[in-house]
Amino acid sequence: MYLLYTIVAGLVSFLVLKWIKKRRYCTDLKRLDGKTVLITGGNSGVGKETAIALAMRGARVIIACRDVDKAEKAVRDIKIRSHSVNVLHMELDLANMRSIRDFCKSFLQREKRLDILINNAGIPGLLDWTDDNFSMCFGVNHLGHFLLTNLLLGRLRECSPSRVVTLACSNYKYQKLDFQDLNYNLLPFFTYCRSKLANLYFTQELSRIAQGKGVTSYAVHPGYVQSSWTCHYSVLFRMLMQVVMWMFFVPCEMGAQTVVWCSVSDEAAKHSGGYFTDCRPASLRPFARDQGVAKKLWEASERLVNLA
Ligand SMILES: NC(=O)c1ccc[n+]([C@@H]2O[C@H](COP(=O)([O-])OP(=O)(O)OC[C@H]3O[C@@H](n4cnc5c(N)ncnc54)[C@H](OP(=O)(O)O)[C@@H]3O)[C@@H](O)[C@H]2O)c1
Repeated sequence: MYLLYTIVAGLVSFLVLKWIKKRRYCTDLKRLDGKTVLITGGNSGVGKETAIALAMRGARVIIACRDVDKAEKAVRDIKIRSHSVNVLHMELDLANMRSIRDFCKSFLQREKRLDILINNAGIPGLLDWTDDNFSMCFGVNHLGHFLLTNLLLGRLRECSPSRVVTLACSNYKYQKLDFQDLNYNLLPFFTYCRSKLANLYFTQELSRIAQGKGVTSYAVHPGYVQSSWTCHYSVLFRMLMQVVMWMFFVPCEMGAQTVVWCSVSDEAAKHSGGYFTDCRPASLRPFARDQGVAKKLWEASERLVNLA
């Protein structure tokens, strides 16, 4: 019996080590002195680790968060861990279009620069609705960032070369978009997959629209990360996921590596519109590279957020 336990334990350890080893760190050490970085949802998880990494490189880092208490605490932590005082927060609720417009107005008044926008905030599969009656995943993960990016695009162009990095997910492949029902809100996991597929189309169309204007655009799968996304679910699910995450998911610091790489590296800049994981370009299923769908989604999103 002991022999069996030893073999199983050895096999599990081997798989875990293999999984961890596969992950890559960003080895590009470029400094960001004088640059301003805006990170949505930078108070936890991948966003917070990205904020620390970019503040360490000298950037002015602004985290845009919906909860002021969490944001203040995160700013304190980020300052301590990055040894930078150039970190602040602003209030932004991506589930509310008014909040996004107000945020952009005050950001543009206060900040003269925007060099890197990181569309990081995200909601996992939840069957809820935003204040503007969009399904929560589609509304926050896609439409909120769509409006935010469009309202800040002028400043990004003024500060070119500038970058937009958007957190997607490899789970995009399990769904396709239904233009008759963009607000699909039936199965939680599938609402999430669709919103992350929308992030990919958004990245590609943004790259096309901004071509020649000095703004480049990247979509990142951070890996499966030990972040706080399970806080939206029941205690039982959280306990179960703790074990799974401990065994197979990577730490948040590791999850931030590809985001940092896309924010700074010259190599990434050669692949605007691309999809990245483990600090290198990754391939997408053909349906997720359909330019016609990307354009159609962009136009539909413009109408939904009243930009058209
Ligand atoms: N974790 C993974 O395995 C994984 C895998 C693939 C992709 N991703 C993507 O990576 C990104 C970061 O996720 P994470 O894993 O770091 O999760 P996380 O720790 O839960 O962080 C999500 C962040 O988004 C913020 N947020 C949620 N709704 C918001 C709203 N309406 N307005 C403003 N901010 C809002 C959260 O703020 P509060 O603290 O106030 O809730 C939090 O700061 C997400 O886009 C996610 O889809 C994650």
